[in-house]
Amino acid sequence: MKHLISIADMTPKEFRYLIDKAIEIKARPKTYAQKLYEKTLLMMFEAPSLRTRVSFEVAMTQLHGHAINYYMEHSPWGLGKESMEDVAKTISQYCDIAAARIYSHQELKKLSRESSIPVINMMTNNGHPSQILGDFLTIKEKLNKLENLKIVYLGDAKNNVTYSLMRACALTKNNFIIACPANKEYRPEKYVIDETKKLSKKYKGEISITSNPLKAAKDADIIYTDSWMSYRIPKSQKQKRLKDLKNFQVNKKLFSVAKKSALFMHCLPATRGNEVSKEIIDGKMSIVFPQAQNRLHIQKAILLTLLGR
Ligand code: CP
Repeated sequence: MKHLISIADMTPKEFRYLIDKAIEIKARPKTYAQKLYEKTLLMMFEAPSLRTRVSFEVAMTQLHGHAINYYMEHSPWGLGKESMEDVAKTISQYCDIAAARIYSHQELKKLSRESSIPVINMMTNNGHPSQILGDFLTIKEKLNKLENLKIVYLGDAKNNVTYSLMRACALTKNNFIIACPANKEYRPEKYVIDETKKLSKKYKGEISITSNPLKAAKDADIIYTDSWMSYRIPKSQKQKRLKDLKNFQVNKKLFSVAKKSALFMHCLPATRGNEVSKEIIDGKMSIVFPQAQNRLHIQKAILLTLLGR
């Protein structure tokens, strides 16, 4: 692996390797404490972040390296005065590894193409691979397996988290069901559906999309949702989205048809009362905070792997 851009670029073996490495690092952190001595990670942000930013920075600190936070809004690139190609060539001469949270996946691809250092996708409009790798680490810890699960995603499915989940479920032979409004605004884009169908065929995963949340949730092992108001959605759309998505809230009624052992996942930030009820996200079925904690361990596995340590 030279970069981490999309889960679609990975093999099942590479995917599992990162999860096993994170388990090992989490169990024996001291063994890895000097591994990135004098290494620098540049983190470039166009969009807000709590978990991704802090977990990558803490990961670098705990591995004895250094992380730089760079906000792209006021950068020459953000002001339209420099190409991403020139950014890539410049930063490659200062840093050992780069990570970017920018909306345009095409710009991220330019960054990785022109960089001589590894590049990590910290979220674009096409995917959020480090999030989903951390989520599968959490699934492995909680269920002691990664495959042959029924994983259900509910709500707004036209987003990066859903897209990376689709790809990861294909690689791990899971049955992934999306329940979202029939309206195009909330459905995954066709290119991702096509890409995932190909991956599912190759690796024996399954994917389906329905507008019936109860049918989707029946006998689920995992129920996953994400914010109905992702970072780039204007506030003016809030009332419409609450109305369109209200039948897709993860709540007690929905959980009553899932397996008794079913777990609730959310990448966070969450809004209680919108995409999930308080009793579910704060209930015993919720694993959202172990999920957030595992961002740290998987970031270490990603950094060490890409830097060949
Ligand atoms: N889940 C996630 O990526 O959180 P942040 O947006 O806070 O980084």
